[in-house]
Amino acid sequence: MIAALRDLGAVLITGGAGYIGSHTAWACLDAGLRVVILDNLSTGVRHAAPPKAVFVEGAVEDRDLVHEVIRTYEVGAVLHFAASTIVEESMVDPDKYHRNNTLNSFRLMEAIASLGGMPFILSSTAAVYAPSPQGRLTESASVDPVSPYGLSKLRAEQLLAGTASVFGFPYLAMRYFNVAGADPLGRTGPSARSATHLLKVAVQAALGLRPTLPIHGRSHDTPDGACVRDYIHVSDLAQAHVHALAHLAGGGASGVVNCGTGRGASVLEVVAALEAELGRALPTTNAAARLGDVAYAVADETKLRQLLPDWTPRYEDLGLIVRSALAWERHMLAHAAI
Ligand code: UFG
Repeated sequence: MIAALRDLGAVLITGGAGYIGSHTAWACLDAGLRVVILDNLSTGVRHAAPPKAVFVEGAVEDRDLVHEVIRTYEVGAVLHFAASTIVEESMVDPDKYHRNNTLNSFRLMEAIASLGGMPFILSSTAAVYAPSPQGRLTESASVDPVSPYGLSKLRAEQLLAGTASVFGFPYLAMRYFNVAGADPLGRTGPSARSATHLLKVAVQAALGLRPTLPIHGRSHDTPDGACVRDYIHVSDLAQAHVHALAHLAGGGASGVVNCGTGRGASVLEVVAALEAELGRALPTTNAAARLGDVAYAVADETKLRQLLPDWTPRYEDLGLIVRSALAWERHMLAHAAI
């Protein structure tokens, strides 16, 4: 076990039955930590939570429940993933995003603060940044979210910074770029029924679960006209959370940090990587640009590497990301879990 984690107690993972949360739960267990998951199963699925984790079904805004869980399981740190995360949905239902991502997150922060505080990691997003024309985004780039989703997370970040400074506990807001792929050991993956993320939709099209992959927007201001994103493998990101916990537990600085690879791939490049893996063409259709889509979002990941010097991403190659996503979807299909 990483030395700084030895005295941490259990880790509370909200949203641990969801995509990134379940991968992080596995990573924490693999690192020797005890894990307690709090999830209301609104989008998460029960079987995604690792069997060795304690599972509590409930809401992050339920202060009494949060207190009971923390006391019962001797929780020493919080990883807060539970959230609504679909950019386009937030454009049509902004209230849901402000309620779930801002208000409910704040209630959780208050519940933690009222017990004296503890290391707190917030899932945040690259969607907090103002659109940037083809430059890599550092943490000091201007924040001006295009979507209510981005705004709801930016407000959660600000509330966390304020609460943490008043109550004196350490925190990190981790701004994820495009998280993709699945656990290479096949223990979890993107399990939600609805699919909006590019790679999930693409592998479903590859396996005949949908007729085609719509390519949203071909005339963006990018080299090939398709949107460019920074795809980070979910297991690398999960592992980064373990190191982030060690960073905070070891007295490291609080703040915001980008989580990406520093490399961009366009929608067409992701399609090409999947086609290379499949050995055949993927059915695609040109479709209108999506509401709230920015043309280009790629991380400057310098700070992440400085903050977590012992973190070594293992699956940065787009081919590996695509392969794991395809394997997971095949697994879901074989187990009729879709
Ligand atoms: N796309 C398609 N067809 C699809 C699905 C997606 O062309 O069927 C395109 C989108 O238009 C976009 C790109 O693929 O250009 C990536 O879309 P995703 O839905 O996979 O992801 P987003 O970029 O919309 O959002 C994700 C996370 C956000 C995060 C953001 C940061 O969901 O939480 O990345 O870049 F904020």
